[in-house]
Amino acid sequence: MKENKKILVCGGTGCLSAKGAEIVKNLRDSIREHSLENEVEVIQTGCFGFCEKGPIVKIMPENTFYIEVKPEDAERIIVEDIISEKRIIELLYIDPKNGERVFEGENMEFYKKQVRIALKNCGTIDPESIEQYMAAEGYAALKKILTTMTPENVVKIIKDSGLRGRGGGGYSTGLKWEFASKNISDQKYIVCNADEGDPGAFMDRSILEGDPHSVIEGMIIAGYAIGATEGLVYIRAEYPLAIERLRKAIETARKNKILGENVFGTDFKFDIEIKYGAGAFVCGEETALIHSMEGGRGEPTTKPPYPAESGYWGKPTIVNNVETLANIAQIILKGVDWFRSIGTKNSPGTKVFALAGKINNVGLVEVPMGTTLREVIFEIGGGIKNNKKFKAVQTGGPSGGCLTEKDLDTPIDFDTLLAKGSMMGSGGMIVMDEDDCMVAVSKFYLEFTVDESCGKCAPCRIGNTRLWEILDRITKGEGKEEDIALLKELSQTIKTTSLCGLGQTSPNPVLSTINQFLDEYLEHIHEKKCRAGQCQALRKYLINDKCVGCTACARVCPVACIEGKVKERHVIDQTRCIKCGACYNACKFNAIDVA
Ligand SMILES: Cc1cc2nc3c(=O)[nH]c(=O)nc-3n(C[C@H](O)[C@H](O)[C@H](O)COP(=O)(O)O)c2cc1C
Ligand code: SF4
Ligand code: SF4
Ligand code: FES
Repeated sequence: MKENKKILVCGGTGCLSAKGAEIVKNLRDSIREHSLENEVEVIQTGCFGFCEKGPIVKIMPENTFYIEVKPEDAERIIVEDIISEKRIIELLYIDPKNGERVFEGENMEFYKKQVRIALKNCGTIDPESIEQYMAAEGYAALKKILTTMTPENVVKIIKDSGLRGRGGGGYSTGLKWEFASKNISDQKYIVCNADEGDPGAFMDRSILEGDPHSVIEGMIIAGYAIGATEGLVYIRAEYPLAIERLRKAIETARKNKILGENVFGTDFKFDIEIKYGAGAFVCGEETALIHSMEGGRGEPTTKPPYPAESGYWGKPTIVNNVETLANIAQIILKGVDWFRSIGTKNSPGTKVFALAGKINNVGLVEVPMGTTLREVIFEIGGGIKNNKKFKAVQTGGPSGGCLTEKDLDTPIDFDTLLAKGSMMGSGGMIVMDEDDCMVAVSKFYLEFTVDESCGKCAPCRIGNTRLWEILDRITKGEGKEEDIALLKELSQTIKTTSLCGLGQTSPNPVLSTINQFLDEYLEHIHEKKCRAGQCQALRKYLINDKCVGCTACARVCPVACIEGKVKERHVIDQTRCIKCGACYNACKFNAIDVA
């Protein structure tokens, strides 16, 4: 065997919940048993992104990519792969397009089009080791700015880079920093927004779990740029692993004099504190977040004043998203031209997406802005599950909208998505197929909004509830022709009169699905039909001629609406059927159709 092998084991939440820690332990035990401690190192890393097929184990330098590894595979990996240098075929990924095993991670369709800036170290270093972060150029950008640049230089670089905030709004990070830097104050703050409330999104959590130092470095650089000495990370308490790794990273940074007084031996001081959120979507909105950190209710207030002018305790405060901050050190190190060479003119760089829904490769992907939806869904994502037909993709979470087949060649960036009636949002991307009902999808997002609205203003509190009620009626077959106009009018009112971004964007899923799938709404209203078969109240259960009269269905029907003699075809009384589906599940002869 060759020396200096590294075994990288995913230590992200997904893989850890599938016995990732046991795999690490068994690999280390096996290495000891074979006296290979000096030749082979096992590193528990952050998420590799390919969570669908976790736990993932990678052997370096060959980049052999093993999927769905179990703790009992550890001994084989050491004996067969490391000692005998034979790859374990059964643990390799099979390319669904040609059925062939793929040996190296870089040759998998999932990774080919990805460019990693924010996720650069996720899956390559131990997030709990400051030494490994530093070996990967970590804190070099911080040292560079503290020793060779003025705060104005730093602001100018970030402004010139064209970096736009990755938390959803897409506002210029450099411009925001410039405002805060010009505001004179005895105290300023840098806040890292790690609230991440969008359903299905886990980009920020993964960055903090896999590379917490990159966020800390971004915060310190931001602090130097605007003249702040204190940083706060607002993170939801449901992210225990991210919190633990962040806490350890802050402690080691302090021990290494990277946080605290005299950072890197200079006059600059900066320290970071963690603040916990209780997991309310609205607390991701920056003014609500600041109130929550001050110990008040997590309710938004009107802007202006913007936090850059008057934020935490009334002092100039920059609120930046985790992913935005994870880009900073790379821009400082590699320069404006490098950053602008990736992505599009008005949206330079990359974006991390959490790809989910009816897609083959569920996971975390980072692509240059301008990559098309088709590339993300059909190449990186491996296409639609079970060879079903693609129907729509929802971007921007509860604030966004749906894009369809005709939008697949749209290059993804902040402006094109907005122009198409959706938005980038924080990076949730949910793929839907022919079995998804678009009225139900819109109702799902409204349900989320109604639950998460802080209730401070009437258009959002009452308006969204009314929107939900209309959608609910339609999904129950009780919709009326006028409902479409009512949904549109109410949506516009909520958008223009709500106080914060939550209410101002909450009707977007309704408007976008009406725009793109009006025929489905009308079908529910006029024909009382849900073509995807998802709206339970519109389903019809019918017994076909495969019925052998076994009586299984009649015995489970809770309202006794199935009639028929033994060994004779049964019949459902449609007027009494409550559409519970119990008969469908009980029938062993495929004799019940759902229409
Ligand atoms: C309802 C609502 C929820 C939000 N949730 C988040 C969030 O979870 N994380 C985040 O970074 N930004 C969130 N934002 C955007 C923030 O208010 C703010 O614009 C962002 O953190 C700024 O950072 P950036 O410029 O780096 O994107 C949310 C906004 C709204 C209106
Ligand atoms: S728009 Fe909704 S979430 Fe925002 S302040 Fe009003 S009630 Fe609260
Ligand atoms: S769907 Fe439920 S209520 Fe209707 S016939 Fe079947 S078992 Fe009975
Ligand atoms: S958690 Fe392991 S690959 Fe994502």
